[in-house]
Amino acid sequence: MEAPPEDGPIHQWTSQDEFPARLKKYWWQRQSIWDRYDQGIWMTEDAWFGVTPEPIANKIAAHVAESAPKEKNILIDAFAGVGGNAIAFARQGRWDQVFAFEKDPDALKCARHNAEIYGVDKKIVWVKGDCLSEISRRFNGQKDNIVLFASPPWGGVEYGDEDVFDLSKMEPYSLEFLYEKFNKYSSSTILYLPRNSDLNQIAKYAPESKKLEVAHYCIRGASKALCVYFGDFDFESE
Ligand SMILES: C[S@@+](CC[C@H](N)C(=O)[O-])C[C@H]1O[C@@H](n2cnc3c(N)ncnc32)[C@H](O)[C@@H]1O
Repeated sequence: MEAPPEDGPIHQWTSQDEFPARLKKYWWQRQSIWDRYDQGIWMTEDAWFGVTPEPIANKIAAHVAESAPKEKNILIDAFAGVGGNAIAFARQGRWDQVFAFEKDPDALKCARHNAEIYGVDKKIVWVKGDCLSEISRRFNGQKDNIVLFASPPWGGVEYGDEDVFDLSKMEPYSLEFLYEKFNKYSSSTILYLPRNSDLNQIAKYAPESKKLEVAHYCIRGASKALCVYFGDFDFESE
């Protein structure tokens, strides 16, 4: 397997000695984050904070596949990062096309490489750039065909200090901003948000007398994050 470019922000850390001390806890978690870590996964330092662990990404991919309208066949991952979710969606096999948007070129290089390790790099259309402009440019008028998944930045790790995280303060994109934006492109949108997100803020988007599905995703009994399923998902028939 190819090695990452030398002296850059992309790493294939193979021993604890070379691993950054400030990220130590992720060294111990590496194999629960990536089952194939030892096959040569590439990461940037920042990516450790945001990557979706593989068991959670797989569970989300299964839930989305089961509950999304059957006629929709395009899956967009708006914030692909190093590929945690995009790879799981592509491996799931439910989608005719998976599009992965990422504005950080180093993260995108990692994602493509990591997808190769999982054998799905060719099943994903990789788009380098700002999803907020690129999605509208590419998918205008295709709202009925698209399921949109977004794991946005949460604005650092400080969200964890709060009992209840105020989603209007999420940086750089608030809940309201993301909802308004993505609702234009898809009537089936999933947002991956901090586990302590303010559910009252989320509930404002529930349609009149209907439920809005919120699922916590856990590892070893502890919630890691939650997903909100906005729009025409059907969990009743499961
Ligand atoms: C939380 S991480 C996503 C992690 C991803 N789900 C994974 O498993 O690797 C958020 C990512 O969004 C990217 N990003 C932020 N704003 C963006 C934008 N406007 N368009 C595309 N990517 C963006 C960041 O560079 C970062 O890699």
